Amino acid sequence: MRRPMVVANWKMNTRASDAYILATTIRNAIAPIEGIEVVVCPPSIWLGEVSDILKKDGKVNVGAQNMFYEAEGAFTGEISPLMIVDIAKYVIIGHSERRAYFYENDFIVNEKVLAAIKHGLTPIICVGEKHKSSPISDAIKQLNEALTHLPKNRFKDIVVAYEPVWAINKGKVASMDHIVKAMIKIREVVGRDTPILYGGSVNTDHITDLAKRPEIDGVLVGSASIRAASFIKICQEWAATKSFKGCAA
Ligand code: 13P
Repeated sequence: MRRPMVVANWKMNTRASDAYILATTIRNAIAPIEGIEVVVCPPSIWLGEVSDILKKDGKVNVGAQNMFYEAEGAFTGEISPLMIVDIAKYVIIGHSERRAYFYENDFIVNEKVLAAIKHGLTPIICVGEKHKSSPISDAIKQLNEALTHLPKNRFKDIVVAYEPVWAINKGKVASMDHIVKAMIKIREVVGRDTPILYGGSVNTDHITDLAKRPEIDGVLVGSASIRAASFIKICQEWAATKSFKGCAA
């Protein structure tokens, strides 16, 4: 059975004190929630501190937002899987903002996915078509490229996040029909053991509708995840709804 998940991507937000307060508030609120896995991905500079805060209860996992694929060496400014693995369980790979602003292509994304797996991290692989008029097959192509050389028996060790670029940071999620169509196509690629998340303007207004769909295992939350109240509400709703519906087999 795949686990229902809620993942926070804080992106390049929070100064030190904000990160401390947000992580502490989330940890305390998530403690009584059962049946879902919650992951917080802070900026890498706060990874250690946020991990220390969250580990005190042991319920919320930590993820990095990015990493380089080499283990060590002369790569100024980068962080390696070996640096992350003692602190975090997850790493977001191939986010559309990395692809757009830092020129990450499918080859780099694939190298990063393989490196994450090699070093014991669970990659959250982001795919999504660019424009509303683009076909979902663009996202599927990204996914296939990201999974190149990854044996099928490792698909249980990855998470896929479907994030249509045109729905990110827009205040309006993609239509349910569209999301479900994409989920089904992604499921055909990864098989039954991989959690598949939806991301793109997820907020408290439509979280219950998303959670009701058995095709959607979890959500990857951007802007609503840096507001403690909305992120906690999203986690509570996901847990409450998924505990009735479960995830699709
Ligand atoms: P928003 O929730 O702000 O649209 O961001 C989604 C996202 O990119 C999460 O990775």
